[in-house]
Amino acid sequence: MNADIARIVLTEERIAGKVKEAAAWLDGKFSKANTAPLFIGVLKGSVMFFCDLVRAMHTPVVIDFMKVSSYGTNASSSGMPKIEMDLSESVSGRDVVLVEDIVDSGFTLARLRELMIGRGAKTFTVVTLLDKPARRVVSVRADFACFEVGDEFIVGYGLDYAQRYRNLPYIGVLKREIYEDETKGIKR
Ligand code: IMP
Ligand code: MG
Repeated sequence: MNADIARIVLTEERIAGKVKEAAAWLDGKFSKANTAPLFIGVLKGSVMFFCDLVRAMHTPVVIDFMKVSSYGTNASSSGMPKIEMDLSESVSGRDVVLVEDIVDSGFTLARLRELMIGRGAKTFTVVTLLDKPARRVVSVRADFACFEVGDEFIVGYGLDYAQRYRNLPYIGVLKREIYEDETKGIKR
């Protein structure tokens, strides 16, 4: 285990098992669709989940990415997530599946839902690896959430602290001293 991690919350095996379930759910939903659904990965946090998820599916999909950053103060995200990189695909008239790492305050998801509906998506489905309902500010929910987590800051399998720990194969809680030293606090 990485020396900066205090406790593992989700092991690699548990994540892999649940990713298969999410993929099966998506196959059930889209296998009979006439056109391939457009899977949108929200960078950077969802990359590990996104790649494992689409590879576990049997339904042909089209993939695209966008980068969204929640500006604002340290420990909490702002209400105005900024689109830093947009899609290259058009969403108009398509089945859109948004793949998120975590739904926390809900600002990011609310913003992306509004954006995709506004651009004319035929359907909009949200799959998230993690759901942190205790911190919700905007009332939004994913159609499929792999795991519900408590109100603690976690890293790994895509999730970062100051851009680090994304490549851990499991999800864990960071040791307190790692972020207590930082003057900037937890930047999300
Ligand atoms: P939102 O608050 O729902 O808009 O989520 C914004 C983003 O905050 C998520 O997509 C994550 O990138 C990040 N985030 C929220 N909670 C955590 C956490 O516990 N660890 C790492 N990143 C987090
Ligand atoms: Mg994110």
